[in-house]
Amino acid sequence: MSVGDLCWGGVPVGWRRRHLLGIEGMSADEITLALDQAERFKSVLVRDKGYEYCDRKVPLLAGKTCVNLFFENSTRTKTSFTLAARRLGMDVVDFSASTSSLSKGETFIDTVKNLEAMQVDAVVVRHSCPGTAMLLSENIRGHVLNAGDGAHEHPTQALLDILTIRQRLGRIKGLTVALVGDIAHSRTARSNIWGLRALGANVILCGPSTLVSKRWESLGVVVSYSLDEILGKVDVFNLLRIQFERQVIRPFPSTREYSHLYGMDTARLSRAKPEVLIIAPGPINRGLEVTPDVADGQHSAILDQVTNGVAIRMATLWMCLNSKSI
Ligand code: NCD
Repeated sequence: MSVGDLCWGGVPVGWRRRHLLGIEGMSADEITLALDQAERFKSVLVRDKGYEYCDRKVPLLAGKTCVNLFFENSTRTKTSFTLAARRLGMDVVDFSASTSSLSKGETFIDTVKNLEAMQVDAVVVRHSCPGTAMLLSENIRGHVLNAGDGAHEHPTQALLDILTIRQRLGRIKGLTVALVGDIAHSRTARSNIWGLRALGANVILCGPSTLVSKRWESLGVVVSYSLDEILGKVDVFNLLRIQFERQVIRPFPSTREYSHLYGMDTARLSRAKPEVLIIAPGPINRGLEVTPDVADGQHSAILDQVTNGVAIRMATLWMCLNSKSI
């Protein structure tokens, strides 16, 4: 199979975003375009059966350059943006904040404008400060993709989560999805809420009251403080990591108590729906949010999410770099 055989047919009509800053404000149609495009790319990424040598490149963005601007640690997101850009034929440059001139007093915007002067086409940015991706998009000509801005948004994570659910359960509309754990510090939770609500899913936020307040219900979700009470009502559990590095005070007395009340284990799984799906953005703390047998068990789609992450990042890079309007 060659690239020509795949008949991409241009960027889907209806995608008008130069940048991917967040899921808030995205329509169901836009989200569906991104998911459908990712599925087309995924068919190239995983087509190894029956091929001795398998070319996984779709060089639709050959000659373009992408800079990874990560000011926070990352395993999955950075690697998969890099792979996605390379699969599309892009040149990828990694920017290291600690060894750059930022440490000599250069401002963030000046640093990025210098990178832009080297004719960079796309910037993938992760930063602890909410709004960083938006700030960049207002100051440079290139395309900006948000890889996580503080506790605000993580749009590609939500898209890959939703794609995984759609692939496993066949739909999003009408499903009940529970986001469990550290809602307060989770950009993944915020992006998932916008995306799932836009596509017609019911969303439950579940965790200790120190990590999710009833005020979240103004976003059209239900807040529950008991995982045991919601077990039988939920189609998908998205188990969020307890983000100790973001917490100013310890939100619960002990990790043992947390896992006793909110950890997903075999006993709880046996009281959930028979087809229940377990997902997690990763990294997972085995034994805290989820026990190893559940994380590695048949209900878990955690590694499918990682594969889908590359396809989603290919789709969003390609669509943003080919969008016609600002
Ligand atoms: C998430 C993140 O960084 O926000 N992880 C990820 O991107 N794979 C969630 C987390 O760190 O727990």
